[in-house]
Amino acid sequence: MISYGVVAHGGAGSPMELSDGCRAACESAIRMLDAGEGSLDAAVEAARILEDDGRFNAGTGSVLRIDGRTIEMDAAVMDSAGKIGVVINVREVKNPVLLARAVTGTPHVALAGRGAEVFARQLGFAPFRDFSMRVGRRAPSDTIGVVALDKKGVFAVASSTGGASPMMVGRVGDTPMPGCGFYAGARGAVAVTGLGEESIRKMLARAVYDMIADGTGAREACEKGVGMFAPGIRMGAIAISRRDWAAAAKDAMAHWSIIRE
Ligand code: GLY
Repeated sequence: MISYGVVAHGGAGSPMELSDGCRAACESAIRMLDAGEGSLDAAVEAARILEDDGRFNAGTGSVLRIDGRTIEMDAAVMDSAGKIGVVINVREVKNPVLLARAVTGTPHVALAGRGAEVFARQLGFAPFRDFSMRVGRRAPSDTIGVVALDKKGVFAVASSTGGASPMMVGRVGDTPMPGCGFYAGARGAVAVTGLGEESIRKMLARAVYDMIADGTGAREACEKGVGMFAPGIRMGAIAISRRDWAAAAKDAMAHWSIIRE
């Protein structure tokens, strides 16, 4: 049985050599969980570290849109205590996951585009333009994500993405869509990574969560979830429950976990 812990991934397609980044993220989160802090803040902190790493497709490492100059990012946070916050297509924000966390303190669930950026400036987030500006026909890897369970038994998830590529300006994937890119409930938390258009069609995060809630182990649930997609469709998932945790992907996916039994 898991007492508390954290699992982080660097995105579907991220080489295992990048697991050191996930390890650093988990080490920071577990220090918070050891100290009794909540799973939502621990997951957000781990996701912030991955956003700042520069090697992952989120935050500083976000990929460019098809026009070759635009970066738009999505992020989401949710916990089993009822908190949920989402930002969609934000530009010039260093840490979209911190902005999504801040949305949980408003009457709203989601803020998009210009309104989200205005909110960021009101909070004191300075305009940020120092992205890696990576170009490519296909993003080297996908959305990062973190799931956590704290000492009080609250599950949480935090995800952040620069999107897929190639993608149009304004395109939105699964990362900010509840039940598609992320889900947390009383029985666990799930973070999904991969081609958003496909994950949205199957509401993948909720599908994996429902299997766990019905008693399926996290490993089997994640493997069944990513197995729902045709070969060649990049997809991955991580999950944590009271019983177990898992990371599953159709190809490489850097990840790390630190679990206290
Ligand atoms: N999974 C991230 C995206 O498709 O935007």
